[in-house]
Amino acid sequence: MLNLTLKVWRQKGPKDAGKFVTYPAPGISPDMSFLEMLDVVNERLMEKGEEPIAFDHDCREGICGMCGSFVNGVAHGPRSATTLCQLHMRSFKTDETITIEPWRARPFPVLKDLIVDRSAYDRIIAAAILLVLLVSLIVLAIMAQGQKTAEKRFDRELKSLKPAFEKALPPDRAIFRSALTALGAPFQNEAWPLALLTPELRVKCLNCDRPIPYAATNCTFLMCGAAQPIDKTEIVDRNHNSIPDDWEEKHGVFAFDGEVVNTDPDNDGFTTREEYEWKTDPKDPESHPPYLAKIRVAEIKPIPFRMIFKGVSKAGTNLIFQINLRSGGRTYWKKLGEKAEGVTLDSYDEHTQEGPTLTLEHNGKKIPLIKGRLVPRDDYEIKLISLIDEAVFAVRPDIDFDLKGSNYKVKKVDTQGKRVLINDPSRNLDVWIESKMSESQPVKR
Ligand code: FES
Repeated sequence: MLNLTLKVWRQKGPKDAGKFVTYPAPGISPDMSFLEMLDVVNERLMEKGEEPIAFDHDCREGICGMCGSFVNGVAHGPRSATTLCQLHMRSFKTDETITIEPWRARPFPVLKDLIVDRSAYDRIIAAAILLVLLVSLIVLAIMAQGQKTAEKRFDRELKSLKPAFEKALPPDRAIFRSALTALGAPFQNEAWPLALLTPELRVKCLNCDRPIPYAATNCTFLMCGAAQPIDKTEIVDRNHNSIPDDWEEKHGVFAFDGEVVNTDPDNDGFTTREEYEWKTDPKDPESHPPYLAKIRVAEIKPIPFRMIFKGVSKAGTNLIFQINLRSGGRTYWKKLGEKAEGVTLDSYDEHTQEGPTLTLEHNGKKIPLIKGRLVPRDDYEIKLISLIDEAVFAVRPDIDFDLKGSNYKVKKVDTQGKRVLINDPSRNLDVWIESKMSESQPVKR
């Protein structure tokens, strides 16, 4: 047991001057905490009817820090990092005098005895918490703004993205249409009494009558295997589209729906039928008919001769002919044998069926002019139209014109049939181009 003397600061209130009061504290167990020792002293004071020593405490487990006082001039007593509630009396010696006083600081005035006003400290804590909350709010606001900016940038980038293909290529519906037609109505071979549904054309083996593929050179049945001297020039057209099946099968465009040939599997602007007409590959965009195949006649307009025979008069024994330019502005008076506009006045016949006729001659070509009439000449303004883009362009007979990088020339004009014969020098070919109205294919010669 320890016999101690306590010098304790007693102060009745904040305005009281306060003083040290000495209390004897005999019989203190060394295992008591400092606060338990003060409890014992207080009990003894109260038994004597005296005011107990006021001191702060709460958890008494060294957690809250409420129990701070100065012991012998040292905050929390002689043991470092130990609160008063955890400081045991074995840290003191018997007969020792212990001075206990409150923590003295202007911001923490003494309320009573060892209790100080901690509200300044509480305000600091509250201010610190408010500051942390404010900083957190600012950080959250900055993060939210950053998120918004990132979302806007993402939206902008998303909008600026361009698809790899501006326009999706249309699916090749011909394949599906052909498959559907074949499923709905498979080829029925009538060569056998009970009929036979086959995916491809079958013919009878010349030896055993079994159904073998049309192109087989030998019977495909092992027990037979006989040679098949088939006449391959025979034209088979199961889908009745006027194109031999073997050509369609060779190019992989055979379909039971014969109309499929009017589609364009390689997207080169030419239908399978047109490719067949020109013997090009309907599945290869690099192999296609000349663009001439897509040209039709839109209009053939005869161009009248530029001079008009207006009249004739006599000058002595000679006839003088009046010739005007069609466009006006010039009149020639010429005799036979003379020239006007580079053309020679060749002969004159007053009594032809159509009326008085003056015949001119130019480069060996005779040009009959009937008096008072515009005379159509062998010259035309021809308008051709492209079936690919509906573009119309004008050409003249015997003058080269360019079409998609190839040169052509109109050799003949058939005004009755409204068609023109065009020469393709690269293929050494003359092609009749029909009018758009007829919608027929160009005819090669
Ligand atoms: S009373 Fe809580 S730490 Fe001492």
